[in-house]
Amino acid sequence: MILVTGSTGLVGAHLLYKLVIANEKVRAIYRNDNKLKNVKSVFSCYTEDVESVFKKIDWVKADILDVPALTEAFKNIDYAYHCAAFVSFEPDKYHLLRRTNIEGTANIVNICLANNVKKLCYVSSVATLGKELNNKPITEDTNWNPDEDNNVYAITKYGAEMEVWRATQEGLDVVIVNPGVILGGGIWTDGSGSLFKRAYKGLKFYTSGKLGLVAVEDVVSIMVTLLKSDIKNERFLLVAENWSYKNFLQGLAISVNTKPPKKLAASWLLNLVWKLDWLKHKITGKQRKLTRHIARSLQTEGFYSSEKIKSRLNYNFKSIDSTITAVGLHYLKQVE
Ligand SMILES: NC(=O)c1ccc[n+]([C@@H]2O[C@H](COP(=O)([O-])OP(=O)(O)OC[C@H]3O[C@@H](n4cnc5c(N)ncnc54)[C@H](OP(=O)(O)O)[C@@H]3O)[C@@H](O)[C@H]2O)c1
Repeated sequence: MILVTGSTGLVGAHLLYKLVIANEKVRAIYRNDNKLKNVKSVFSCYTEDVESVFKKIDWVKADILDVPALTEAFKNIDYAYHCAAFVSFEPDKYHLLRRTNIEGTANIVNICLANNVKKLCYVSSVATLGKELNNKPITEDTNWNPDEDNNVYAITKYGAEMEVWRATQEGLDVVIVNPGVILGGGIWTDGSGSLFKRAYKGLKFYTSGKLGLVAVEDVVSIMVTLLKSDIKNERFLLVAENWSYKNFLQGLAISVNTKPPKKLAASWLLNLVWKLDWLKHKITGKQRKLTRHIARSLQTEGFYSSEKIKSRLNYNFKSIDSTITAVGLHYLKQVE
């Protein structure tokens, strides 16, 4: 049997659908009954018969920080996908980020080792890679630089990856994927889904940076192929295309039938906005929308190369243009 963590998130839910329709026996861990609607919303991007797919999954309530519950959930598990993580760039959330991402991943790999799980696929991020100079592409070999001004999410995803590499030394077979920004339908409250929501409400500004994008269908297909393959103890960067924020935000707006943003947000404006956002957070306690690190990344020009996965699996990624159009259509169908 296969276990999936992070089942109520974008990657976990799309992965579950792929596994169930391939007739795999799947157990999914979740924390909150309310969040199961995310899974159904994702399934509805693929099928009208959501309930029959949903019922084929063995649902087990477990937090990745709850070792006794995890131990129970891992009974009779041969393979596992670890997609659960806390995604936040708020410095105030550092403690919870460390607990969920580093301690949670340590729990998963330790239980995999104790139960002789045959192989684990871990979802890391391009955030754990370093930077390159002179337009050299960032690859799996671009190592993390601890002296950089790294954001709290990146620090904890890097720490999580270290736990996974540590487990390989203790005998666990793993594959790691490092995706860029993942685009997919069904969940509009967090992650890239919330960007479609923002675009639908109307965006005035774009920013000057670049980002690496990949479709969720590609991420989960590659995860399944890697888990089944003989490949082990390697990581693979997953970015289908590198886009400017200008083209990306304009593409999002067009996909949900709204006017594309026309004005460039200058550096001084972004700096002012993150400072005001910080002040608002301090006074009202409201969640931060723009941190210093996010403001910086919106203006950073990273360029990623996925040549390794393309050549190893002979894999062709879906075009980002058609992915944005398809996800925008799902958004309009689900919210209008
Ligand atoms: N989305 C992207 O663009 C992107 C890009 C690169 C890498 N990644 C990585 O890909 C993975 C999946 O991302 P995603 O976009 O699917 O994330 P997501 O939509 O934010 O979902 C996160 C999942 O983790 C679960 N989770 C969080 N804390 C947990 C805990 N203590 N115990 C058990 N489950 C817990 C959440 O459960 P609840 O629903 O109960 O909160 C949810 O199911 C993450 O590791 C993320 O770092 C994502």
